[in-house]
Amino acid sequence: MRVPIFDLKVTDKILKQELLDATSNVLAKGRLFLGEEVEILEKKVSKYLGVKYAIGVSSGSSAIYLALRASGIKTNEEVITTPLSWIIPSNAIVSAKANPVFADVSNDFNIDPNSIEAKITKKTKAILPMHYAGHMCKMNEIMKISKKYNLRIIEDAAQAFGASINKKKAGSFSSAAGFSMNPMKIFGGYGEAGIVVTNKKSIFEKLKILRHAGTTSDYKKVITNNCIDISLNHKMDTLNAALLLVSLKHLRKKKKRTQQIAKYISKNLNQNIIYQKTSKNEIHGRYVYPILVDRDRDKFRNYLASKNIETKIFNYPLIYNAPAFKRFKKEKLPMAENLLSKSLIIPCHHKLTDNQVEYLVKTINEYFR
Ligand SMILES: Cc1ncc(COP(=O)(O)O)c(C=O)c1O
Repeated sequence: MRVPIFDLKVTDKILKQELLDATSNVLAKGRLFLGEEVEILEKKVSKYLGVKYAIGVSSGSSAIYLALRASGIKTNEEVITTPLSWIIPSNAIVSAKANPVFADVSNDFNIDPNSIEAKITKKTKAILPMHYAGHMCKMNEIMKISKKYNLRIIEDAAQAFGASINKKKAGSFSSAAGFSMNPMKIFGGYGEAGIVVTNKKSIFEKLKILRHAGTTSDYKKVITNNCIDISLNHKMDTLNAALLLVSLKHLRKKKKRTQQIAKYISKNLNQNIIYQKTSKNEIHGRYVYPILVDRDRDKFRNYLASKNIETKIFNYPLIYNAPAFKRFKKEKLPMAENLLSKSLIIPCHHKLTDNQVEYLVKTINEYFR
């Protein structure tokens, strides 16, 4: 039996028809960027997340970059972030001309609030936490730090659509937050897409301008070059928005199935290798399922491959060890180093059948017996 780590094929007949209908509808209307579907999606997403404003952009990368820009992060200011992440949050900080400062993580893979506080200097302007795999960062503690030192929070919520603590959703804790809707994500579309959310009208207004090459352009107006802030094109195209609206219709079902599988894995897998324990008041976004393998991770990975179970190692190397980031490395961060050397992503997505999930858990448990 094969257990794939992701499966992006569209096999459901109803879903496929809805996607084709949405596509032909957009093609017939001919508004191929910033069409009404983008605005409908923005309204639905802001309602779903409990935030005032959402703005559709061309990728999660653009979303995080624009969230930083619109939050007023300036040249040479410091933004404290995690080294254990896909490279984008750090690339976004440097692209916004600020400097990333790396804090260590806790054993749940998320940035450690104590380490954040130890890294604050006079130049610190913001904290950029990333909810690893969809597991919420300790946002209450991070918010306390941000208030104490008057720092902005910009969430990288790319992996955490719908995750929450005490019913407050990821993305609603910060001045602005970025989500990715690339096809692998829990609320994934069928191409590259992202969304920025904020509760502040001034940030929302700024985001609209930054999304559109820094101009006040409006397709109905003649003036198109009224550039008031340098930026590039980050617009979401209408086809993506229309397909995401179809995705949104199916999201509840998809999330329910993924959560059910995650729950089965958490209950039945050897408890020594599970490291993202969630508290009662948390809903895990469940982008992926990371485990920690204390000894010979690569040997274990080969064993799973021999049993037709796909796995992935995420985020190698740590960001501060990537060639372009060595200049920002101040010290080795022990927990991040340790987790990266032992972590492995195992399959956990809505397309898996009960048989596949049982086989996955049984095969892993047999190895550790
Ligand atoms: C943590 C994190 N940040 C940012 C992004 C960027 O999103 P996108 O691929 O939509 O540009 C991703 C995408 O995988 C991500 O995992």
